[in-house]
Amino acid sequence: MNVNLKTRPRRLRQSAAIRSMVRETELNARDFIYPLFVRHGDGRTPIVSMPGIDQVSTLEAVREAEKAAKAGVPAVILFGIPAEKDPVGLENFSENGIIQQAIRAIKKEIPEMVVVTDVCLCEYTDHGHCGILNTGEHFQASLPEGYVLNDPTLEVLGKVAISHAECGADIIAPSGMMDGMISAIRDALDAKSFELMPIMSYAVKYASAFYGPFRDAADGAPKFGDRKSHQMDPANIKEALREATLDVEEGADMLMVKPALAYLDVIRTVKDAFPELPMAAYNVSGEYSMVKAAAEKGWIDEEKVTLETLLSMKRAGADLMITYHALEAAAWLKS
Ligand code: PBG
Repeated sequence: MNVNLKTRPRRLRQSAAIRSMVRETELNARDFIYPLFVRHGDGRTPIVSMPGIDQVSTLEAVREAEKAAKAGVPAVILFGIPAEKDPVGLENFSENGIIQQAIRAIKKEIPEMVVVTDVCLCEYTDHGHCGILNTGEHFQASLPEGYVLNDPTLEVLGKVAISHAECGADIIAPSGMMDGMISAIRDALDAKSFELMPIMSYAVKYASAFYGPFRDAADGAPKFGDRKSHQMDPANIKEALREATLDVEEGADMLMVKPALAYLDVIRTVKDAFPELPMAAYNVSGEYSMVKAAAEKGWIDEEKVTLETLLSMKRAGADLMITYHALEAAAWLKS
């Protein structure tokens, strides 16, 4: 007793082999960028709110990068926890800063590993903000007290980018959402003949509560206030196009949308607007920790949920995913 149906989509779902032939999106280990939190001293310190992720010494960072290389993950992105913090964040562009040491160590041991560096002030400033604050010697009476100053911050970002480039970084990733940060960094790099250094812009970065665990991990929470004067309002998507357009005009080589999971529509919209640019999605700390917490409780299948989540980002238009799941996801994909 068959109904006369001409079209039966289930025909193409009847076996694993056919399903694999018509699959539109495929995850690969080479899609992942693995974040590392590097600190001074020896050994490792577990990050309580991010099970499976540690703050690591330079030596342990090299070990993590080796694991990534073995798993087929081509890149790491580095975040540094400085020895001391101050209003400007001097260690951020110091020759022997923690990131500078980590870049040199990783590039020496694993030259083929692509080392991406996060360029921002928040982990290095004593106030935890992403730029120089409007106070003290920098005070400008026309602006609110405590405002994150845009243009003086650009100068610092340029110095940080040059410092990372001099240590052998492969890609510079500015994450501070300052206006004009891409052209400022491009100009600073080019003035030192780093014309080949690619810039991956955190072009569309929201003022999101999903960064909670990261701020423990990198010890970079603002000591007062929030980041709403520079990071984007989660309600906005047209503004995402405005931000991405500016960064492309300023010379960004790659774009990023961050966070990823609650912003899949933004990933798709930005990708459609700039299909010619490689695009990354940042699968942020809160997204990672939610999966880990539910898995610890036995409420979800960790492997399947993780891979489905990463697949959704790629399907939405991301070419690359920055993810704390990189090593385990690469291993699951292999098996
Ligand atoms: C800023 C930076 C942040 C993250 C990456 N770069 C924190 C912030 O903007 O507050 C968050 C990443 C994550 O949550 O995994 N240096």
